[in-house]
Amino acid sequence: MPTAGSQRPYHAGMDAALSQRPGRPEPEWLQRCFAWSLDQAMKFYEPAVAERKRRLFSGLKGRILEIGPGTGVNFRHLPLGIEWIGVEPNPHMRPFLDRKAAEHGHKATVLGGGAEDIPLEDSSVDSVVGTLVLCSVPDVGRVLQEVRRVLKPGGEFRFIEHVRAPEGSLHAAWQRAVKPLWKVVACGCHCDRTPWEDLQRAGFAHLEFERFSLPFPVVRPHISGRACR
Ligand SMILES: C[S@@+](CC[C@H](N)C(=O)[O-])C[C@H]1O[C@@H](n2cnc3c(N)ncnc32)[C@H](O)[C@@H]1O
Repeated sequence: MPTAGSQRPYHAGMDAALSQRPGRPEPEWLQRCFAWSLDQAMKFYEPAVAERKRRLFSGLKGRILEIGPGTGVNFRHLPLGIEWIGVEPNPHMRPFLDRKAAEHGHKATVLGGGAEDIPLEDSSVDSVVGTLVLCSVPDVGRVLQEVRRVLKPGGEFRFIEHVRAPEGSLHAAWQRAVKPLWKVVACGCHCDRTPWEDLQRAGFAHLEFERFSLPFPVVRPHISGRACR
């Protein structure tokens, strides 16, 4: 089990998580619907990123924190033998997480609440992973500060994010147009964030990322990479 920081709240399960979503307006029924629809949507999305995830997550070992693991799509790509901890505020993801963890030979320790306040000690995890999460968190800068805080020196944050299309492109206009509706149906997701800028500001010792595109409407442009503490 993770060790709680002395002054920080520690929530060992998801039951209390509904009341721990400050600034999250999504009603309970929408969170439930989102968990189910995310599970369905990822059946189409995952094949397009599987090989990239396999490469990105290869070599991970020790204690791994996943922020916003959702329904647990990354378990299949994570090496066996790691100690996995997830920070996931939507309690309706829990049954999916438990099932996928078991299917792929991992044990899931899920902490409720948001990654803006990770209930783990400083320098206590070997790596942090996150896919399609910085689009959804209320405060990207604070999440990245927390990621950096809990990473051991030399530890890496490995990520994949969908991002804003290049300014002036048709796709950028399309993202702007659908953004308000998208935010509601995708439970707080911003389809046009620029997380590379937040990563550049977050004070990591080294940052590398590449851009790539997937054949999906709205969330087409992506970045993937690593930020080293
Ligand atoms: C688009 S889903 C992606 C889920 C998963 N990582 C994947 O690749 O399928 C965004 C996830 O971030 C979670 N999330 C939202 N706000 C968060 C926060 N403040 N801290 C951590 N996770 C958060 C959501 O509950 C959801 O599980």
